[in-house]
Amino acid sequence: MKYRKLGRTRFEVSEVGDGLWGMSGWTGSDDNESRSSMQMAIDLGCNFFDTAWAYGGGKSDGLLGEAMQQNPGKRLHAASKVPPANDRWPALPAYEYRDVFSAEHVFKYADLIRKRLRVDSIDVLQFHVWDDSWANEPEFRSTVEKLKKDGWIKFFGLSINRWEPENGLKALRTGLVDVVQVIYNIFDQAPEDELFPVCQELNIGVIARVPFDEGSLGGKMTLETRFPKGDWRAGYFGPENLPRTIERVEKLKKILPPGMSLPEMALRFILSHPAVSTTIPGMRKADHVRQNIAASDAGPLDEGLLAELKKHRWNRRPQRWSD
Ligand SMILES: NC(=O)c1ccc[n+]([C@@H]2O[C@H](COP(=O)([O-])OP(=O)(O)OC[C@H]3O[C@@H](n4cnc5c(N)ncnc54)[C@H](OP(=O)(O)O)[C@@H]3O)[C@@H](O)[C@H]2O)c1
Repeated sequence: MKYRKLGRTRFEVSEVGDGLWGMSGWTGSDDNESRSSMQMAIDLGCNFFDTAWAYGGGKSDGLLGEAMQQNPGKRLHAASKVPPANDRWPALPAYEYRDVFSAEHVFKYADLIRKRLRVDSIDVLQFHVWDDSWANEPEFRSTVEKLKKDGWIKFFGLSINRWEPENGLKALRTGLVDVVQVIYNIFDQAPEDELFPVCQELNIGVIARVPFDEGSLGGKMTLETRFPKGDWRAGYFGPENLPRTIERVEKLKKILPPGMSLPEMALRFILSHPAVSTTIPGMRKADHVRQNIAASDAGPLDEGLLAELKKHRWNRRPQRWSD
């Protein structure tokens, strides 16, 4: 496993982190399997974990707290998220800041998360949604400054809404944001246009989330893949999105270099960009942990393949099924 600086936090984080959403209750989750996969990831050098209160009402925060307690000699970094008080994903400009992230709400959830993580100070606390019309709200500034001053958090981050990588640029310039989390993968390359250059200029850490496009870039899905009702992916991979996704995935399979799997190419594509600090695949299973962590050791892709992958960029805008 290789390590990179998480921007100005100066945390040395593993290139492959662990995204815990799936462990909080996606179909097929098994807590013991999740626990042993996390331990395997830790043993193989993973030291960065992304969780959120919304993942099972503190469930994945709790699993991570357990793992941190069981590995006292290792410096594991926890990034969690405060949910929006109005329970709306994604944030829209029509929502008032104070209805989404009032100081009272943020401190309440920061405290709940601290307890589940079993820490006094959270390494990175993120807002789970964001709308840039809020960037100059005095309560945003005073809340983040107080969280840091009182030692409840070490650093603050924003989770940028799906397929809106520019919706956060104003907030980055406030000086309050140390880390951003954004969707970046072979399909969703738009963060390269404006977000990454600003992060590089301001030394803001970048967490590249959803590296496999929620699973399609794992290469195992087909036109027949269906998820049970209640599983978030049943909506995402519904009739509007599944066929055109599979068509694109099949094109990618045709350009795989000999011996390289699609998930390996997907992760190495992300890690080839110097603005990226870490990527956080959902890794509930031991085989996935082994494969995904090996992608860090394999290093960046060669220039020829990267140039080819540019052609597979897919510009998308938020849809009613995408959040
Ligand atoms: N801030 C936000 O709003 C937000 C939104 C989405 C995600 N996230 C974060 O980003 C993390 C990653 O996103 P995600 O989990 O939604 O999607 P993802 O990482 O793009 O995809 C996860 C899917 O890929 C599969 N997979 C993992 N490794 C694989 C491999 N080597 N080969 C084939 N398939 C593989 C998993 O399989 P199994 O189903 O078998 O486990 C799972 O179905 C989340 O866990 C969460 O921490 C944040």
